Amino acid sequence: MRKKLFAANWKMNLTPAEARALLAAIRAALDPLAAKLARDREVMVAPAFPVLPAAAQALAGSSLALGAQNMHFEEKGAFTGEVSAAMLRAFGVSHVIVGHSERRHLFLESDEMVGKRAAAVVAAQMVPILCVGETADERDHGHTLAVVLRQLQAGLAGIPAEQARRVVIAYEPVWAIGTGRTATPEQAAIVHGAIRDALRDRFAAAADDLPILYGGSVTPDNVDSLMAKPDIDGALVGGASLKADSFARIAASGIA
Ligand code: 13P
Repeated sequence: MRKKLFAANWKMNLTPAEARALLAAIRAALDPLAAKLARDREVMVAPAFPVLPAAAQALAGSSLALGAQNMHFEEKGAFTGEVSAAMLRAFGVSHVIVGHSERRHLFLESDEMVGKRAAAVVAAQMVPILCVGETADERDHGHTLAVVLRQLQAGLAGIPAEQARRVVIAYEPVWAIGTGRTATPEQAAIVHGAIRDALRDRFAAAADDLPILYGGSVTPDNVDSLMAKPDIDGALVGGASLKADSFARIAASGIA
């Protein structure tokens, strides 16, 4: 059975002190549900890099996983502003978001670069959360699946088939991110189904073990209807992950 993943992407928000307070509140809501959550899902938070030490401390003894928002593919060297796998692992990071649309569109990360990052995350024994998704313009022109499948193929290019089970995919339509305009469950399901088919072509049976998350204006109000679709296996949550009650409600979708 594939496990779901409910992941908070805090983006460029929260100081260490704010993160500690938020995590204390999230833990107060989710720790009592830990046994139930563990049956079918993982819950993860991805703070900004300088907040990782405080978050790691605040998560000690909890079952919540710690994630990062990006990672460079080289081990070390002259890459100003980047961080390495060893730096992230030193704080207990287990998951790394790669290819987020904000990285692709605001910081011009290419498909190829995203693929290198994803492969490096896997090689460092962590789980990449590979983000894919079309812009509004691409959707309007009927290019949604072509764009998503191109990003998927390039993003997975360096990942050996025997490591496939370490990978998580997140479908995040760019037009749904931070806009309050979520994809309908039906719109998302079409893309998730196409992603699953492409994963089967690439990884055979292992494809059925990979979670495919939906991201883009996920809230406590829409999460349950999204999760009701067969190939939607969790959520990557931005704005609603900055409030303890809404993130806890999302992470416990179907349970509480
Ligand atoms: P919002 O939930 O704020 O739309 O952000 C989604 C996202 O980009 C998560 O990575």
